Amino acid sequence: ETKIFRDVEPLRQFRKAAFLSNRTVGLVPTMGALHEGHLSLVRHAASENTDVVVTIYVNPTQFGLNEDLASYPKTWETDLRMLHTLDRELASVKGAGRVTAVFAPTTKTMYPMLPPDSSIPGVGSFIEMRPLGQLLEGASRPVFFRGVATVCMKLFNICQPERVYFGQKDIQQTVVIRRLVKDFHLPIDVKIVPTSREPDGLALSSRNVYLGARRRTVGIVLNQALRKAEAQYKAGKRTRGDILWPASDHADQTKMAQDSLESHKRARFEVDYISLADPETMEELDEVNPARGAILSGAVKMMPVEEPNSSE
Ligand code: PAJ
Repeated sequence: ETKIFRDVEPLRQFRKAAFLSNRTVGLVPTMGALHEGHLSLVRHAASENTDVVVTIYVNPTQFGLNEDLASYPKTWETDLRMLHTLDRELASVKGAGRVTAVFAPTTKTMYPMLPPDSSIPGVGSFIEMRPLGQLLEGASRPVFFRGVATVCMKLFNICQPERVYFGQKDIQQTVVIRRLVKDFHLPIDVKIVPTSREPDGLALSSRNVYLGARRRTVGIVLNQALRKAEAQYKAGKRTRGDILWPASDHADQTKMAQDSLESHKRARFEVDYISLADPETMEELDEVNPARGAILSGAVKMMPVEEPNSSE
């Protein structure tokens, strides 16, 4: 049976009991609106721990003032049903752990100093990574990684997991978490789980509900551009130009797609960044050292749709 915790103290009791009976805890932090990608993290956690703790908390401090905090999808009942179903499935898998706890705290619990429903930064304690938290995704979203690092530090301290599970989809987030664990000497193993995708290549995301058919294709094109760059690396290319050239090649195709889309006045977008970066610092690389590897990532910005009644 999956227990639901809203407060810190009972969860600590649960954690203590688990520790005393030699059970191990794998933590899966989420903001709810669960999908198969989240469940894949839980399955990985259950394959390596006796107990999986899933946290469901829409963390206000990682949202910018112009972002979607108020409208972020909330599907609490469905989330719980999905976790219960998965837990029953795990019960019949030999050697697998169980989803023993869901932690769903309030903002009053997580941020005693912060006014409720507020993303006002600067009240209370925060963790910042420089320059890592300001690069790439952090350039467009200045408070994002500060909010992520801070809430994860709180969740780690509350749940005291042996292992934590994060999705590769949010690659810079995984770099930030590894940095957090290393810099603060947390006794935690960080595990990165491959991205779950739709058959057409689009990564599963709680925010995909915002996408209409045409905006979806933009995400798919971005995925294809990154795959092409990856293929260049796998074919032995090591310099930035040789690896990203097909990506910029694709950017031309993106431009063409954009023109054609704009002519329909449907979806508008611009490329935010295409990056080939160091796996620990996320600083841009001119050349990849294969012993160290590199992270390829990219983002596009979707603009507001002009047609008032369009569903896209
Ligand atoms: P959220 O977007 O709910 O994602 C929770 C976890 O699920 C993250 O580690 C994310 O990378 C992973 N995930 C999402 N989509 C995935 C997919 N298609 N395949 C594999 N993993 C996927 O990321 C957050 O929440 C928050 O920033 C959080 C870490 C919870 C801090 O508030």
